[in-house]
Amino acid sequence: MDQVLAKVFPTSTASFTHLRSPHVLSANDLSLDVVDELCEIATDFATGRADSHRNAGRAVALLFFQASTRTRLGFEVAAHRLGCQPVGMQDMSSSRSNKRTGESLEDCAAVVSRLCDAIVVRHHESGAARRMASRSRKPVINAGDGWNEHPTQALIDVFAMRRGLRAIRGASIGFGGDPRGRTVRSLVQLLSQEGPREVVFCPPAHVPVPEDVTAALMHRQIRVRIVSDVEVLLAHCDAVMMAPYDMSDIGEAASSGFVSPRTSPDAYVVTPEKIARTNSKALLYHPLPRQDEIHPDCDDLPNAMYFEQVRLSKYMRMAVLDRALALT
Ligand code: CP
Repeated sequence: MDQVLAKVFPTSTASFTHLRSPHVLSANDLSLDVVDELCEIATDFATGRADSHRNAGRAVALLFFQASTRTRLGFEVAAHRLGCQPVGMQDMSSSRSNKRTGESLEDCAAVVSRLCDAIVVRHHESGAARRMASRSRKPVINAGDGWNEHPTQALIDVFAMRRGLRAIRGASIGFGGDPRGRTVRSLVQLLSQEGPREVVFCPPAHVPVPEDVTAALMHRQIRVRIVSDVEVLLAHCDAVMMAPYDMSDIGEAASSGFVSPRTSPDAYVVTPEKIARTNSKALLYHPLPRQDEIHPDCDDLPNAMYFEQVRLSKYMRMAVLDRALALT
């Protein structure tokens, strides 16, 4: 029983009343009401107030065409905690949706949705989850599609930030590192409806913040600032979401040998010295995996929330699966 969360969030009576589509394809489809309900259900799972076996015996397909640690294991743990049976392949290149056989994602979804009760898919192609949803008889959950989106990570991020900050409304939220990634796009969409006072980006000098990302914020009259040193984020923001400095391999297939550069210029690296120098109280989040953008010596500081974020993730993934299964 998570007593801390029980105090932070009141007892929930949420029953997915705001939820319509069973699919989770884009953060854009998740209204504030939906996010509120999912956070309440996640809290109920964390505090033991929700029945975690109401979906006992149902099968959840985990189709990971691209590498993953957290999302894959997180959904597997969540499925087990719900009493479901997670099924999948260790290596999707041994499925028929590989280069040699070439079964389409649409056919894959048509087949798997006749065998399982939900599909969780990670793929290197933008739009892969939506393609599968177009032919699936069961809910499809986008677990990251190329450069496009990672909506369940954004739900986890908002859940963790609401818990850490008590409220995102009125806060200053920083983004360090490459702003082009799918986690940033999905999180900004959710943040835009949470009402932060401003969002401050610290992107690499050669990487502009994508226009659709800034537009989502400015559309809601949220101030957007661009800075070039992570110390500005530490000094001025209430929470900072870090990302690797260069994420240009995010759209690569598992078989690709290409990897992004692994080193960040000093101005983009969070260290204990910078936190001390700026007297920073900014809470540090990260979807992980990190490269070198947060020095490991930060891990035990009170600012560091990124491993707590992982702990909370299983409750949000339970909520997402529970909701998807309830709507079928
Ligand atoms: N945050 C995240 O998506 O991590 P994985 O790639 O390990 O799933």
